[in-house]
Amino acid sequence: MPFSSTATIHGDDRLNRVSDVAPPINVSTTFRYDDEHLEPATISTGTHTSDSPMIYSRLGHPNADRLEVVLTEILDGPTVVYASGLAAYHAILIHVNPKRLFQPHCYHGCEAVAKIISRISGMEILPLENLEDKCQSGDLVHLEDPGNPYGEVVNLDEFAEKIHRAGALMLVDSTLAPPPLRNTWEFGADIVMHSGTKYFGGHSDLLSGIVSVRDEKVAQQLRNDRTYLGTIPASLESYLLLRSLRTMEIRVLKQSSNCTRLVEYLASHKDRYNSVVKDIRHASLQKEEFVKKQLPGGYGPVFSLLLFSQEQCKLLVKNTVLFQHATSLGGAESLIEWRAMSDPFANRNLIRVSVGLENAEDLIEDLAGTLEKIEKGDLTW
Ligand SMILES: Cc1ncc(COP(=O)(O)O)c(C=O)c1O
Repeated sequence: MPFSSTATIHGDDRLNRVSDVAPPINVSTTFRYDDEHLEPATISTGTHTSDSPMIYSRLGHPNADRLEVVLTEILDGPTVVYASGLAAYHAILIHVNPKRLFQPHCYHGCEAVAKIISRISGMEILPLENLEDKCQSGDLVHLEDPGNPYGEVVNLDEFAEKIHRAGALMLVDSTLAPPPLRNTWEFGADIVMHSGTKYFGGHSDLLSGIVSVRDEKVAQQLRNDRTYLGTIPASLESYLLLRSLRTMEIRVLKQSSNCTRLVEYLASHKDRYNSVVKDIRHASLQKEEFVKKQLPGGYGPVFSLLLFSQEQCKLLVKNTVLFQHATSLGGAESLIEWRAMSDPFANRNLIRVSVGLENAEDLIEDLAGTLEKIEKGDLTW
């Protein structure tokens, strides 16, 4: 089913419990039992669905249920929500429990989670190189597409062919290409995850993670594990995320078009900051045919600049006005980050940019204008 803005707003109507148009924030951790149905607990008491009675908020609570109902519809597959993107990634590794994980150089937090699991279970972590020679049945292959921090894509169809030929599973972290930019199932994924903190949340005010699978039974197993791992998003965060879903389509489309316009401008005026900007990296600058096909709704709103020196990086992030110097991405406000500040493995001359919802021409003036000032020597310490 294609992404639908109607579903982002009405997908959870059947779970309305009161007449409020904005769903209430339920702060209770516990819910009164129904006196008409007094039964001893069974193993399945921990199995919560959106039709179950509320018992205890670690199993399920009203706004987490609403979220999952909407997300299941817009992500086109049974979906489970978590307290953060890394909690979601952890849940996938616990559920699949692969002997071997193939992992690219990706968001450093996912690499750290894989190392923890490897320490506990002995799971081997392998790079993606020569996947076709090494990948076997039972392996899990993690792809991050578009990749963080460059915002560039890899050919998912090509990977899917190799992974499925070997009988392995393909996990796509699609955080940088949320709907409606694409439906990741169309490119061979077996599991799709998102850091919901980013475009689903969209306001830099909540943490969340999202896992979509192909089979409701698997989603139920994930929910059962989540009950005991204690990683359901809390009540306020669930409410905030639900609120954010209502505007997701227009936010993501505008962020995508703002970013593409900004990258296009920077690339076509590069001669104005030739001794500052060494390279600009974004999917819109990739020439391969699969790139556009893989992002039919628009390019992701994150791109990177490689500058010539660390001093230039520091000057840039100190002097932009609309682009605030902070980590993270996906919010309404544009952010810029000297990536070395949060990723110990990042190239020291790398600037990551998350494009927000401001006016595109104002963003161009701020970023390109600051680069030009550095080029001319107008900005110094
Ligand atoms: C691609 C990607 N995956 C996963 C995560 C982790 O998400 P969270 O910060 O919500 O735990 C991030 C965070 O930046 C990310 O960029």
